[in-house]
Amino acid sequence: MALTDLRQQFPILSRMVKGKPLVYFDNAATSQKPQCVIDALTHYYTYYNANIHRGIHTLAEEATMAYEATREAVREFVGAGATEEIIFTRGTTEAINLVAFTWGRQNIGPGDEIIISGMEHHSNIVPWQILCEENHAVLKIIPVTDEGELAIEAFKELLSSKTKLVSVVHVSNSLGTINAVNEIVTAAHLVGARVLVDGAQSAVHLDIDVQKMDCDFFAFSGHKVYGPTGVGVLYGKRELLQDMPVFQGGGEMIKEVTFEKTTFNDLPYKYEAGTPNIADTIALKAALDFISAAGKDQIRLHEAALLAYATARLKTIPGLSIIGEAKDKASLVSFIVKDVHPQDIGVLLDNMGIAVRTGHHCTQPLMKRFGIPGTVRASFALYNNLEEIDVLIAGLGKTIKMLA
Ligand code: ALA
Repeated sequence: MALTDLRQQFPILSRMVKGKPLVYFDNAATSQKPQCVIDALTHYYTYYNANIHRGIHTLAEEATMAYEATREAVREFVGAGATEEIIFTRGTTEAINLVAFTWGRQNIGPGDEIIISGMEHHSNIVPWQILCEENHAVLKIIPVTDEGELAIEAFKELLSSKTKLVSVVHVSNSLGTINAVNEIVTAAHLVGARVLVDGAQSAVHLDIDVQKMDCDFFAFSGHKVYGPTGVGVLYGKRELLQDMPVFQGGGEMIKEVTFEKTTFNDLPYKYEAGTPNIADTIALKAALDFISAAGKDQIRLHEAALLAYATARLKTIPGLSIIGEAKDKASLVSFIVKDVHPQDIGVLLDNMGIAVRTGHHCTQPLMKRFGIPGTVRASFALYNNLEEIDVLIAGLGKTIKMLA
């Protein structure tokens, strides 16, 4: 199906904001939802709302089957070998915390080193800082170049037998940079380190194949792939997941409980304590099916065209500088305008119905690296089009005139 037809499937895109047609360019924060995702949620609550894995009645069986069907869809979406390697979480943040609190606590000791990069989201910084403090380990940072790329040679120099984990973002939420994760994984594995890839921004844009990437862990969020909020995924290699200690204790993650001792469930349930987010997980399958039907190749081509057009047009605006000009970028552009605060731009654009994100984008160390308080960020999805970019450019022109 043509992408222009797919746009019709997102009801929110036909609403007005401040009397103007909505131009939604905050997709890196969260994507909008197609009707099939909204319907999947309603259908579950209308027809087969029940708890899963517990009941033998019809509704419970239907809900369990739908929930597990999402696990299989996720397995295929990320190219994992088995559904045992797919754990549902609340989102990318919880997935990273799960690894830090389980594998991390077991495997990172005094003097060990964890490498992250200078372009990480706070969710891929803070859990490792907490762990380093608790276990007396050391956090090392891959520098970011002026273009907004990772300094790969400097990264290789950081690696040593002390390195236990490399945790890097696949696509930067602030710059759009697509990092060379395959090269990072290969180099890290040479010194025996494990690698976690934060796929929060990549899963919606790039073809993900965790087996080819050979990463040890991969995390992403449902709400950034046209699915609901409150559901995310941790992929982990089976041999690692099997040996890791449990994350949270409770129902479902156990095999047998006595007051003397508890034995834990098999993968992946060992990491899914309590009643999970059933409805949103079920609806995530509708989102992944929607992406498959649209075709990642078609999406990538369309989004590359949006990025190229937006970049070229933004560069014609006097006083505007793009932050992050990596060779390989996803469809996201961050910029600043001389003598104008990003937040003021965001507010005036909102008055014209244009949604962008402004600020530090939860990457304060990266903003510090560039010596700026924040940026204006326009991030594109498969339903955006060139006309909307024209609206943004015209809106920016008016905004800058008003503020300068
Ligand atoms: N991490 C999300 C963003 O970049 C919220 O906007």
